[in-house]
Amino acid sequence: MKAEELLNIIKTRRSVMPAQYSNAEISETELGLILEAANWAPTHKRTEPGRFKIISGKGLNRFSEFMLDQYKKNTPADKFSQRKSDGIAEKCRRSDKIILICAKYSGMVPEWEETASVAAAVQNMWLMCTALGIGSYWSTPGAIHNMKEFTELDENEKCIGVFYMGKISEDKATESQREPISGKTKYIHD
Ligand SMILES: Cc1cc2nc3c(=O)[nH]c(=O)nc-3n(C[C@H](O)[C@H](O)[C@H](O)COP(=O)(O)O)c2cc1C
Repeated sequence: MKAEELLNIIKTRRSVMPAQYSNAEISETELGLILEAANWAPTHKRTEPGRFKIISGKGLNRFSEFMLDQYKKNTPADKFSQRKSDGIAEKCRRSDKIILICAKYSGMVPEWEETASVAAAVQNMWLMCTALGIGSYWSTPGAIHNMKEFTELDENEKCIGVFYMGKISEDKATESQREPISGKTKYIHD
């Protein structure tokens, strides 16, 4: 692959919300590529901390109920928004698959390094999704701290995000902006 092609995938990767997903299925082959990409993230001392729980089928309904329940439990009655509640259910309904992004901390390196490794795995998945025409985005709702109520997690495992995924029928990539890299770099020559 040419460097420009790689840069193009990096630059066209977007957070694509479930409202933009079609109802086409993500195939087993595509899911395999996404997970394989995750598995090749760099990891200090090869602790390989990434853990991924793939939710599909009826699991999506159960996840939707869990997320709604979390929203109700953690929102004071006067702050409750029916629109937000409907939005939570709609995101699960429109996703073909959802991956719970988890980190299993080994204690062999500082925790942040393993979180950083899992973040690199997420970027790998996100780039693979871009290459496959699959919309995806990383969400970090408060419910991630209670994920043990949805599914089993090891004692030293934490959920650090929810990765929503769905096919996008056409290229609906939205524009995005970044401040120029020149303002974020410093060259040290001596
Ligand atoms: C660690 C992390 C957590 C994020 N959590 C959320 C979130 O909870 N909700 C959300 O809408 N976007 C979330 N995002 C996505 C960002 O909003 C998004 O990456 C940013 O707006 C830039 O857009 P782009 O991904 O299309 O370049 C998260 C991104 C990262 C890296």
